[in-house]
Amino acid sequence: MATSSFYSSLFISFILFASSHFHASEAAKPPLVDGLSYSFYSKTCPKLETIVRNQLQKVFKNDNGQAPALLRIFFHDCFVQGCDGSVLLDGRPGERDQPANGGIRPEALQTIDDIRSLVHKECGRIVSCSDITVLAARDAVFLSGGPDYAVPLGRRDGVTFSTAGTNNLPAPFNTTSVTLKTFAAKNFDTTDVVALSGAHTFGRAHCGTFFNRLSPLDPNMDKTLARKLQATCPNANSGNTANLDIRTPTVFDNKYYLDLMNRQGVFTSDQDLLTDKRTRGLVNDFALNQPLFFEKFVDAVVRLSQLDVLTGNQGEIRAKCNVVNPKKSLFTSAVEDVAQFVAQF
Ligand code: HEM
Ligand SMILES: *[C@@H]1O[C@H](CO)[C@@H](O)[C@H](O)[C@H]1NC(C)=O
Repeated sequence: MATSSFYSSLFISFILFASSHFHASEAAKPPLVDGLSYSFYSKTCPKLETIVRNQLQKVFKNDNGQAPALLRIFFHDCFVQGCDGSVLLDGRPGERDQPANGGIRPEALQTIDDIRSLVHKECGRIVSCSDITVLAARDAVFLSGGPDYAVPLGRRDGVTFSTAGTNNLPAPFNTTSVTLKTFAAKNFDTTDVVALSGAHTFGRAHCGTFFNRLSPLDPNMDKTLARKLQATCPNANSGNTANLDIRTPTVFDNKYYLDLMNRQGVFTSDQDLLTDKRTRGLVNDFALNQPLFFEKFVDAVVRLSQLDVLTGNQGEIRAKCNVVNPKKSLFTSAVEDVAQFVAQF
């Protein structure tokens, strides 16, 4: 009797534990797009996430600027014809040499392909460059002090890029009204825009992206910051750069919002978030509450990572991240497709 009630209460507490655990971790995750899963490579490449994280730990030790660079590459990949690795492709003219992609750091592109090489050595050519880009961005955030979060995987690489698509990227000269529309076009709301802008809590900007606020001087910029930026930038074409977050330029934290509250945002698109009535309250909230910022950032960034993805047998798995695979005979590609299909089991 005593044992059976012991076991039944154990059973009940197990159910309670299991269900509360399920709610805490699962309910918070944004919905999955068809074809992606959180365990996509768990059988075929179990070491994938360890390889990415260990490699980035090494890379950031020598060059922590690659962390913000990787997060921006991820954003610019996903916002232009989806997370398909299009921004990684070489081309002249190409997607990457368009004005909106100015400042992308070549060394961070190299890091993505270096990781691709390590992963393919371990598991074969089954992991896409677009998935590696998503994982690298996640680890860039976490290893810089930000939140850790699970990302859905299973993206395939595209075989095209889009130069025109880069016109849909947001511009630093735009006001919040314009930025909100740019993001609404891809189903991101006001909270998403303020949270995603928090990515400017680390990294740098070239003079041309904020010179519009120096000459003529934007009265909405803190005088001390203005003098500092003017000293950095003799003109708009100077190749010099300034930190996006003057307080903690290499840390992923909520200090960016404190910058905005002190009129120390770098871009018009940053500082206007405090001026616009629709976004001001959220800037305040995130400045006072880092866990809230992290929660909203993760929610938006996981949805961003699922924009217009290729899955199943769409696209391909690139053998090198900067070029599409060479065309093959129908026979060779059929044999490879079968091999890749079998490798999933
Ligand atoms: C809200 C609209 C946005 C605008 C107008 C914008 C614009 C820019 C511009 C002009 C730069 C400077 C690039 C350079 O001169 O090298 C930059 C840098 C950066 N952006 Fe954004 N961005 C926006 C949103 C985002 C989002 C959503 C993310 C990621 C989730 C992001 C991540 C970054 C990062 C990390 C950097 C620093 C890059 C580096 O240090 O190499 N940005 N952004
Ligand atoms: C937003 O910025 C871009 C790039 O500077 C500019 O061409 C465009 O006119 C701006 N949009 C509006 C509505 O001001």
